[in-house]
Amino acid sequence: MTSSGIERVRIDLAERSYDILIGSELLAAPASYEGLPRSADAMIVTNTTVAPLYAPRLQAVLGTRHPQVHLVELPDGEVHKDWQTLNLIFDALLARACDRKTVLYALGGGVVGDMTGFAAACYMRGVPFVQVPTTLLAQVDSSVGGKTAINHPLGKNMIGAFYQPLRVIADLDTLRTLPRREIAAGLAEVIKYGPIADDDFLGWLETHADALMALDSGALARAVKRSCEIKAKVVGADEREAGLRAILNFGHTFGHAIESGLGYGQWLHGEAVGCGMVMAADLSRRLGLIDEGYTRRIRRIVERCGLPVRGPALGADRYLELMRLDKKAEAGEIRFVVIEAPGRAGMRAVPDGMVREVLAAHSG
Ligand code: NAD
Ligand code: GLY
Repeated sequence: MTSSGIERVRIDLAERSYDILIGSELLAAPASYEGLPRSADAMIVTNTTVAPLYAPRLQAVLGTRHPQVHLVELPDGEVHKDWQTLNLIFDALLARACDRKTVLYALGGGVVGDMTGFAAACYMRGVPFVQVPTTLLAQVDSSVGGKTAINHPLGKNMIGAFYQPLRVIADLDTLRTLPRREIAAGLAEVIKYGPIADDDFLGWLETHADALMALDSGALARAVKRSCEIKAKVVGADEREAGLRAILNFGHTFGHAIESGLGYGQWLHGEAVGCGMVMAADLSRRLGLIDEGYTRRIRRIVERCGLPVRGPALGADRYLELMRLDKKAEAGEIRFVVIEAPGRAGMRAVPDGMVREVLAAHSG
């Protein structure tokens, strides 16, 4: 921790490197924005829920840096992570004659962040953007690493780009207005870092789960920082997911099938990932990689964080059909992130029969 109480995690990507700032009272602090471009125009992209909570403070601080600070409010929800809503950002930028130096500020959760990043990648072939994540999930995962996307009715996050922000400003105080269900969803992405990369962190989470759910400041700061450190290391080694980065998708192959199979927005992304991790852990056990005890630990921490551990009854055929559309699938073969040993993950193609066994045990 620095003397100012701000934690800094660096994403090391040569000329695309940037800092993640983590701490309290960062959103309205001029120091959080020092060093960012002072373009004539700035555009805050947010949604109808987050705008009344935080947009005025962001507008005020950005007003000291940019002569014109514009605001676009998107409709709220995963169901709006689509072309039509993305176009609202382009409409707003063009209507205000924003030029290619305009800085976009994504103020909100992962949906706003993913869409703003994709808009920034596309507008005039690329404008700078800054992530100001206000959900736990966005602070520990989606705002970091440059994956941007919208959904397609046939598959989640299927249309997008790798495009890094200039900075991530994670103000922990914003988490205090988050509904409890959203905190739990964010914890799913925190939990995943333990089994895939840091077994000690899983142990720490087991001890501090209650403190995290009670939004204890120290516990939150530690969880966000450690999550970002792990993500920074993985993204620094494999920005465009040639291999290693896929481990960040532990639980996501099952999870994405749940989300698109039920219709976006029925289960929260983190809820689907939580349940997906239970399924992927069981798959790892059936492959003989981890034992029953470790599988049980993963299931127990997911459950303790208030996340579902049983998938919806979509039917195994439908699950398999949806999972064949996963971005990790190759030539129609589904590839899963598996736990190879506590704190270490890898990728495996798995026979359909074994996947059916997992689905029979954990869904319906
Ligand atoms: P979200 O963006 O839908 O936010 C959850 C809800 O909380 C929304 O209703 C939002 O308006 C509200 N909200 C946000 N901040 C708030 C605050 N401080 N107080 C009160 N309410 C607040 O969901 P999410 O869980 O943040 O993100 C999920 C999305 O992130 C999914 O689309 C997923 O695909 C994506 N994702 C992307 C990556 C990536 O690497 N790019 C990684 C993980 C997830
Ligand atoms: N959340 C997965 C990734 O960033 O690669």
